[in-house]
Amino acid sequence: MSFINPIKRAYLAMEAWFNIAFGSEWNPLYNIGRLSFFFFWVVFISGLYLFIFFDTSLSGAYASVEYMTHEQWYVGGVMRSLHRYASDAAVITILLHMFREFALGRYNGFRWFSWISGVPTLWFVITLGITGYWLVWDELGLYVAMLSSQLIDALPFISGSMSRNFIGDQVSDRFFTLMAFLHFLGQPLFLIFAFWIHVKRLSLVKISAPKGLAIGSFIALLALSLVAPAVSHKPADAGQVTAVLNLDWFYLNVYPLMDYVTAGQTWLITLGVTLFLMLLPWLPPKKTGPAAEVHLDYCNGCEQCAEDCPYDAITVQARTDGAKFEHEVKVNAHLCAACGICVGSCPASNPFRMKNELLVTGIDMPQMPINDVRDHVDAAIAKLKGDNKIIILGCDNALDLSALEADGVQVISLFCIGMMPATLVEYALANGADGVFISGCRTGDCYYRYGNVWMDKRFDGSRQPILRQRAERSRIKVFRAAATDSRKLHRELAEFQNYIKQLNKEKRAAPHGAVHE
Ligand code: HEM
Repeated sequence: MSFINPIKRAYLAMEAWFNIAFGSEWNPLYNIGRLSFFFFWVVFISGLYLFIFFDTSLSGAYASVEYMTHEQWYVGGVMRSLHRYASDAAVITILLHMFREFALGRYNGFRWFSWISGVPTLWFVITLGITGYWLVWDELGLYVAMLSSQLIDALPFISGSMSRNFIGDQVSDRFFTLMAFLHFLGQPLFLIFAFWIHVKRLSLVKISAPKGLAIGSFIALLALSLVAPAVSHKPADAGQVTAVLNLDWFYLNVYPLMDYVTAGQTWLITLGVTLFLMLLPWLPPKKTGPAAEVHLDYCNGCEQCAEDCPYDAITVQARTDGAKFEHEVKVNAHLCAACGICVGSCPASNPFRMKNELLVTGIDMPQMPINDVRDHVDAAIAKLKGDNKIIILGCDNALDLSALEADGVQVISLFCIGMMPATLVEYALANGADGVFISGCRTGDCYYRYGNVWMDKRFDGSRQPILRQRAERSRIKVFRAAATDSRKLHRELAEFQNYIKQLNKEKRAAPHGAVHE
């Protein structure tokens, strides 16, 4: 059995519990990025309401927030609380999203861009929260303003006089209004741009959370807003020392550090952590296999591979080889994750073609061409012994299947289960396997985002190239597993073996070999 690091093991166990509680479609841990987007929507809409009643002048800001909180508690107060709690929830989900990608080893190799573009996004969100606290202009707002100014003053290219703005009554209205402009417009626009960059390399990105999860999260936020409404501290007074500040640790976590170290050192620590996070994809580096290759002689330009590619690595262009087809596809090697899903999408990957010849398909993986996959299946079937011959088709990123090999069981592992042409299952059954057991990543959590989704659709006939009707469904079993689900897999396989045994017995007993389902 291959080694699974304890962080990954613990995380997968937690996801399994959540699967039991929520089902895979609504599992919050499978939807953390989408949930972050949902919380941003709540922040955005509640923020619009607050903006209407907020006085952007220094003298009126505090009173306008107090008015919303107390006089208009039933709308303004709730909106303020929703704004605060959804912002906190967004930071929690972002951190969890980041941790998940790290724990499951999905931050390096071809994923470097998603990771690197995620790190600054986190900081943009935090600085957006900081200006938000600043705007309330209460004791906490003043604290944030003063310490932020010290931080800005510590930058080598700043003249070093910003914190003086916050002594006595020197704070200018104009400066405060600039903060409001940043918080209400500048920073949100910047953040939206950062989000766009972050998901730019992915295709078919879903940014809306599943309905049930969104409704549940909203109810939780609303309940929290009613039970513990967000309130202000006393109004800002630069001449007064504040004894107790209720810090929001999700946003203001850097400031307490300044009790112990200088502003310059705070920068060094913060930038150091950021740099470390940014370098993580290369420590140690993970290699992505060679990119998919197009074989134009076998490509009819059907575009299915371009539609299925989860990383937008395949584009469609006008035919260049004079063939009668209108289009051809082209692979961008820099974007290719080498998942092989395109091979499973290509109708020419049908193993029944070119029997006893080299099987060439329209798009293939140079490190494991479809011809080799077919050869592996042939060899595996030849090795099978006994009356109940099972072929297991699995993927390299879910569960280590090699331990399952036995006299009556042979394993073929692909880069992703989406790499498997549906016809390969039919081929195995037609060439001597009594049953095909298919394993892949857990439902809702494909390592390559869409591999098991496309496989399901090919099997139910809703996405080309489909599993044909002639494939005997009763001899095919799909079981989804993560690296830690080995015991469950053994159980499922044993059940399937017994079932096939029974099926074979019935087949032998039936007149003319008829199959009963
Ligand atoms: C600021 C808030 C963020 C939001 C709203 C967000 C949202 C998303 C979404 C929607 C996806 C696509 C998921 C999919 O469809 O498979 C994604 C992918 C990803 N995110 Fe984020 N993200 C955020 C921050 C971060 C951060 C801070 C990191 C890590 C530093 C990060 C790392 C990644 C990685 C590595 C992927 C690629 C997943 C894959 O290829 O399967 N994200 N993010």
